[in-house]
Amino acid sequence: MASPLLVAYTTQSGSTAEVAQAVGSAIHELGLAVNVLRMSAVKSLDGYQGLIVGAPLDAGRFPRECHQFIAAHRAALAGMRPWLFVLGPTRNEAADFEGAHKQAEAELNRYPWLRVAELHIFGGRFDMDHLAFPFRLVRYLPASLLRRIPTGDIRDWNAIREWAQQIARQVKTAA
Ligand SMILES: Cc1cc2nc3c(=O)[nH]c(=O)nc-3n(C[C@H](O)[C@H](O)[C@H](O)COP(=O)(O)O)c2cc1C
Repeated sequence: MASPLLVAYTTQSGSTAEVAQAVGSAIHELGLAVNVLRMSAVKSLDGYQGLIVGAPLDAGRFPRECHQFIAAHRAALAGMRPWLFVLGPTRNEAADFEGAHKQAEAELNRYPWLRVAELHIFGGRFDMDHLAFPFRLVRYLPASLLRRIPTGDIRDWNAIREWAQQIARQVKTAA
């Protein structure tokens, strides 16, 4: 069997994890073997035919787990061209998507040796009910910065599926 694709993700409040699972399912539908793993659970990138990385933006940064993943797998990553999806905007405003793209690019620029096949921004989810610890505590502060983030879930499942499947088709063609 051909070596599988890996979808490696990090998440703070769960929405990127759900997108990673959807990416995996869409690839699997096209007959490719795929593993979906939280970044901290990835022991090695050896043997994978392709890599898709997913992370949310948090105050303009990727979560620490993402930076740890890049550092831990630097040698392997330098020889790969991973696809990267980033969750950020929580309302469908072009300026928010452009802003998120710039934030993600700035994070990527910290790793000039890392060449991604594509950086793709997806809309994300933000609501007080899905907040992870410790953000959950901050919701009680009236002046919290969190209150400035628009509430919503604008994840576009059709766009996510289509994006994943065009990657699967590229990998199949290259095999
Ligand atoms: C504390 C916090 C900070 C955030 N900062 C940004 C940001 O700087 N840029 C952005 O585009 N989205 C930002 N977001 C939106 C998240 O990226 C979005 O809600 C995403 O879907 C969260 O993913 P997760 O559920 O996997 O943690 C922020 C959300 C939170 C809760």
